[in-house]
Amino acid sequence: MKVILLGAPGAGKGTQAIKLSRELNIPHISTGDIFRENIKEGTPVGVRAKEFIDKGMLVPDEITLEIVAERLKKDDCTNGYLLDGFPRTLPQAQALAELVEIDVALNIDIDQSILKERLCGRRCCPECGGTYHVKHLTGDACPVCGAKLIIRKDDNVETVTKRLEVYNAQTAPLISYYESCGKLFNVDGNRDVEEVFKTCLDRLKE
Ligand code: AP5
Ligand code: MG
Repeated sequence: MKVILLGAPGAGKGTQAIKLSRELNIPHISTGDIFRENIKEGTPVGVRAKEFIDKGMLVPDEITLEIVAERLKKDDCTNGYLLDGFPRTLPQAQALAELVEIDVALNIDIDQSILKERLCGRRCCPECGGTYHVKHLTGDACPVCGAKLIIRKDDNVETVTKRLEVYNAQTAPLISYYESCGKLFNVDGNRDVEEVFKTCLDRLKE
């Protein structure tokens, strides 16, 4: 099953993708995570991507498309995958359509007024990939693996504001694109994690 997770920054794409990936046994492919890994390793892609990510802008399509095309060639993609944060522009969606036929685009629909609080309070585990919110944590250790949690460099008010603007201008139009392809499924993301998960899973198990 080939699934796209659409949604604004902080809508819960990563949170749901981790859970769905475990449940469905298909890989979770996050372009944001791939870029952050490249930045950490100091690769040429990482150096280039950092210029854009730190400003809350999108990495150019040609770089993004190349890393996705490479990732989709790996053996673990044979039975499908969850694409988290890709595509994010119309040219990316059109390029993806030339490579594969996706089954569904799950759009995590959310009231944008809560996203700044969600993102500015997010803490991420650099070891196991878990994502949490400060209001549910007691210290700075990952509740799952114990590693020290980190704050993403783009999770500050200024960059989050820019990311939301970019989302509305460049990514939100993909909702009508996938609707016109008959692939869109809207999920109410304003509920708790387990409720959103159940709706996504029910749709994917149909
Ligand atoms: P990326 O890493 O994809 O970031 P994003 O789209 O901004 O989305 P986030 O990861 O911030 O949010 P999320 O929806 O995953 O939310 P999460 O589950 O963590 O991209 C980063 C950057 O890389 C981009 O800005 C761009 O520069 C570049 N990039 C990436 N892909 C690209 C592409 N295709 N083209 C060009 N550039 C690209 O949850 C957020 C918080 O909310 C957490 O604290 C979580 O615990 C909490 N939460 C989640 N769900 C719930 C819930 N239901 N109720 C309450 N709290 C919840
Ligand atoms: Mg994410």
